[in-house]
Amino acid sequence: MIQEEFSLDPELIYWNHAAIGVWPRRTRDAVCAFADENMRQGARNYPAWISRISKLRMRAARLIGARSADDIALVKNTSEGLSLLAYGLEWQAGDRIVIARGEFPSNRIVWESLVRYGVHVDSVDIGCDEPEAALIEAICERTRLLSLSSIQYATGLRLDVSRIGKACRERGVLFCIDAIQHLGMMRFNVRENMADMVVADGHKWLLGPEGLALMYVRPLLRSRLRLNQFGWHMVEHAGDFELQEWRPARSARRFEPGSPNMLGIHALEASLSLIEEIGMDRIEKELLHRARQLVAWIQSHADWILCSNDAEDRLSGIVSFRLRGADGRMHSKLVGRAMAGGLVCACRDGAVRLSPHFYCPVAEQLEKADEVIHRARRDLGI
Ligand SMILES: Cc1ncc(COP(=O)(O)O)c(C=O)c1O
Repeated sequence: MIQEEFSLDPELIYWNHAAIGVWPRRTRDAVCAFADENMRQGARNYPAWISRISKLRMRAARLIGARSADDIALVKNTSEGLSLLAYGLEWQAGDRIVIARGEFPSNRIVWESLVRYGVHVDSVDIGCDEPEAALIEAICERTRLLSLSSIQYATGLRLDVSRIGKACRERGVLFCIDAIQHLGMMRFNVRENMADMVVADGHKWLLGPEGLALMYVRPLLRSRLRLNQFGWHMVEHAGDFELQEWRPARSARRFEPGSPNMLGIHALEASLSLIEEIGMDRIEKELLHRARQLVAWIQSHADWILCSNDAEDRLSGIVSFRLRGADGRMHSKLVGRAMAGGLVCACRDGAVRLSPHFYCPVAEQLEKADEVIHRARRDLGI
């Protein structure tokens, strides 16, 4: 079943799911069928589209262990979800927010933008032996929120978010997780992690299209967040257009002001159906197996330096390395050449970032990847 779902160009080695994943066949089919339906029938079957939204929310809730589909909002992207939280809270001058140094810009800029309210961001170095302890120690009297990517985008460092979530809860600090590099890659449980808010766009490990993100907001927090976007769709009685009185929906739909991204919803629902069928236990196992193969491959080259932490509880589907003696610019050129040679990967934080998914035949591709990189080095003279 897995092989039938993936029809990548056999010339490509696609190790770039931390940037943008590929679509399974069923996702492509869902998009084609939806396009066909629109062309032939328009929105005649709108009730069926609505039920697709419910299905997606239910799948998302199961994926993250949320109690109810009502806890899931469908937003545009991770950045929008983080902004909904940042601008839904009331801030006071002197409030502080803890983040990790080296976070992806979406999970830094939004917090820094709160400087207009006198909010200060504490950026913690997590390149130490005990990153969780470093983050927890940075919490002080004035800390209101800690926001973290549970798996770091550049190195793939996996953090023990349940430990951080517990510490936040004990201290009355809100805990926000950017899970874009986690959902669909490794198991995740929002309640074990004690997260108040989780957001992840669907176009990486969830194998969906860009422009549609899953957002969880803990029910207690949901009612506290100030709303800044309004429209017909976010009210309790959406669709009753004559009704003059309104109140925000009790569910997380209150964060969705207008018409849903129906095309994206059809696509992502199909992608999540595959992930659910295969199961996150199996996906995680397969993926870590591939990550270990990459680590061993990197370590078999004398002048390649592994940048990722390969400890059992730190490893994820993102593995990055540097060439000894080459600078960031060289790595960027190297990745450009590798891409031209058919190895799809990325340059992040001055290193080569590899991110195969569970279905990638990594063992069979190592020899070709080796050739591509060696040719690129030869061409660049490094
Ligand atoms: C950790 C992290 N957060 C957020 C994003 C992107 O966010 P958005 O969904 O807003 O495009 C990325 C993309 O690479 C990322 O790695």
